[in-house]
Amino acid sequence: MRSLLVLLSAVTMLAAAQTAMAGATGALKMVDIDNSEQARQRGAEIVVSTCMMCHSLKYIKFSDLSQIGMTEEQIKYLLEDQDIDDRMMSLTPIEVRKESYGKVPPDLALMAIARKKGPQHIYTLLTDYYYKDAEQEETDNHLFPGIKMPDALAYADAESDEERAEIETQAADVASFLVWAADPNAESRRAIGTYVIIYLIILTALLYLLKRRVWSKVH
Ligand code: HEC
Repeated sequence: MRSLLVLLSAVTMLAAAQTAMAGATGALKMVDIDNSEQARQRGAEIVVSTCMMCHSLKYIKFSDLSQIGMTEEQIKYLLEDQDIDDRMMSLTPIEVRKESYGKVPPDLALMAIARKKGPQHIYTLLTDYYYKDAEQEETDNHLFPGIKMPDALAYADAESDEERAEIETQAADVASFLVWAADPNAESRRAIGTYVIIYLIILTALLYLLKRRVWSKVH
C-alpha cells in the first residue's frame, strides 16, 4: 500500500513537472501554418536567398522544389553556382560559418520536426528579435536569449505595424516551406492511403458477393 502511495505521488509530481515544462512553450506564437503551394514557394525563395547564406537543407535537392509546384525555370532562377540536381547546401564555406558564429548553423531540412511545435518554433524565433539597447546596436531574441544567429529577416528594424506584418508573413511562409521540407512525401502518402482504402472497400464487396455465391450452392 505504501509503495502504491509513493508511486502515485511520483506520477502526480511527474505530471505537474510536465505541465510546467509545457508552460515554457507558451512563449511560442501559435500561428496557423498555410500549407498552400504559394506559401511554400514564397518560403522557398526566402530560405534560398536569405537563410542559405548560413544554413543548408541537406536532404532536399533543388529539383525537389517541383513538388511544391515550381517550374524548372522558377527553380533555375534560384540557383547561383549550383546545378538543379544538387542538394540545397549553403555556398558559404563551413569554416567561415563556424568562425563567424562560433558554431555551424544547424541543418534546416528536418528543423520543423526537430523542435517541439516546429513550425511555431521557427515562426516565433524569426519574429522575436529586439534591440537590447537604445543605440540599436545589438539584438537579442525572446525565444532564444543569446542566440548566435543574427536577425535574418530584420524584424527588430521594422518601423511600422505594416512592416512587422510583412515580416510575420515571411516567417510563416518560411515555416510552411520547412514543414514541407521535413516530410516532402506527406501528400503523396496521403493520396496513396486514399486509394488503398478505396481498393480495400471494393475488394471486400467482391469477396462478400463471392462468398454468397459459393454458399448459395451449399444450401
Ligand atoms: C548569418 C547567418 C545566419 C542566417 C542568415 C540565418 N541563420 Fe539561422 N542560425 C544561425 C546560427 C549561427 C544558428 C545557431 C544559433 C545558436 O545555437 O546560438 C542558427 C540557428 C537557427 C535555428 C535553430 C534555433 C534553435 O531552436 O535551436 C533555426 C530554426 C534557424 N536558425 C532558422 C533560420 C532561418 C529560417 C533563416 C532564414 C530566414 C536563418 N536561420 C538565417 C545562423 C544564421
